[in-house]
Amino acid sequence: MLIKNNADGFSHAVSSEIADRRVVESRRTLIKHMGTGVAGAVMASWASRQALAQTPAAARPGKLAALPGRQSVVPGAVTMEKATSYQDASSYNNFYEFGTDKADPAANAHTLKTRPWTVDIEGLVKKPGSWALDDLLKLGAMEERIYRLRCVEGWSMVIPWVGYSLVDLIKRVEPLGNAKYVEFVTLADPKTMPFVGSRVLEWPYVEALRLDEAMHPLTLLAFGMYGEVLPNQNGAPLRLVVPWKYGFKSGKSIVKIRFTEKQPATAWNKAAANEYGFYSNVNPAVDHPRWSQATERRIGEDGLFTKKRKTLMFNGYEAQVGQLYAGMDLKKLY
Ligand code: MTE
Repeated sequence: MLIKNNADGFSHAVSSEIADRRVVESRRTLIKHMGTGVAGAVMASWASRQALAQTPAAARPGKLAALPGRQSVVPGAVTMEKATSYQDASSYNNFYEFGTDKADPAANAHTLKTRPWTVDIEGLVKKPGSWALDDLLKLGAMEERIYRLRCVEGWSMVIPWVGYSLVDLIKRVEPLGNAKYVEFVTLADPKTMPFVGSRVLEWPYVEALRLDEAMHPLTLLAFGMYGEVLPNQNGAPLRLVVPWKYGFKSGKSIVKIRFTEKQPATAWNKAAANEYGFYSNVNPAVDHPRWSQATERRIGEDGLFTKKRKTLMFNGYEAQVGQLYAGMDLKKLY
C-alpha cells in the first residue's frame, strides 16, 4: 500500500453492475423464503454456485475442512452481487507478513501453523483470559455473510465469509464501562512469516475499532470462506471482516484482542498517518493523497471495455452503519 505509483488497478476496468430489478427480485425471493426457514439453504447454494462456476476445477474448494454457515439475516449481511471466484479471492491477497506482492501470500503462507491457536482477551474487561480456537469456534452460531471488500488500493471483491458477529464474543468477556476501543493484534512469527522483520510496517500488524464499531452486528469474526475454513493466505484461523471500512482494517490471523480507553496506534496509521486514518471508512468523497477513491475495479471482471464501478459511501453499508458517525466530520476523521 505504500508503494508509489501503484494506485493498483486504476488502469483496469470493471464489468457492468447487476441490474437493480434483478436485485430487488432476488430480495423478494429471499424475504419469501425467510418465512419458511429455507432462505439459508437457497442463498448459500446460490452464492457458492456463482463463485465456483468461475473457478477452475483445480482451484476449487474441497481441499480444506468444511465450515458451513446458516445464511445470515443480519440486515445488509448478504449482498446479491456476484461473488468473486474462490481462485481470485485466495490468490490475490494482501498479507504483508508473507510478502508485498499480491501472489506472495498464496505462495508463502503454507508455513503458517494454525493449530494449536489461542486468542488472548486483555485489558478493560470483566473476564480476561485465553481462548482456544476450538472454544471460539463453538462460541457463536456460524453464518454465511456475503460482503463486499473494498481495498484502499482501489480494487474490490465479493466474498462469502463464514463466522459470527464479533459482538457475540465481546458480550461474553464483558467490557468495563471505561472501555472505548478494541485493539486487534495479529501473529508476528519470524519463523513462519518471512516478511516479519522487513521495514515495510511495524510488527505485529495491529488494527483497532471504536467499541461501538466492534459491537456492530456487521463486524464479523470470520473463520471460513466459501463453506470451508479460511485458507492461510486469507487470515487463518480467524480474522476480522469490517465490510464498510477499507480492507486493511480487517486484521488477519488474530492472536490478541485488547480493550482500551485510549485510541490504539495502528500499523498503517503509524506507517503513514496522512494516508491511512484511524477510521478508514470507505468514502468516495475523500481521496487518498495519491489517488482518487471515487471508483473501484472489481477483481475478476476486467475487460477491455468494462467500466470501473462507482465506490459507494461506507462501501454500500450506509443504511446500517451511517448512524455510528452522525455529526462527525469524515473529511477530517478519515
Ligand atoms: N492482516 C495482516 N495481519 N496483514 C496484512 O498485511 N492486509 C490487509 C487486511 N488484513 C493485512 C491484514 C489488507 S490491506 C487487506 S485489503 C485485506 O487484509 C485483504 O484480505 P484478503 O486477502 O482476504 O482479501
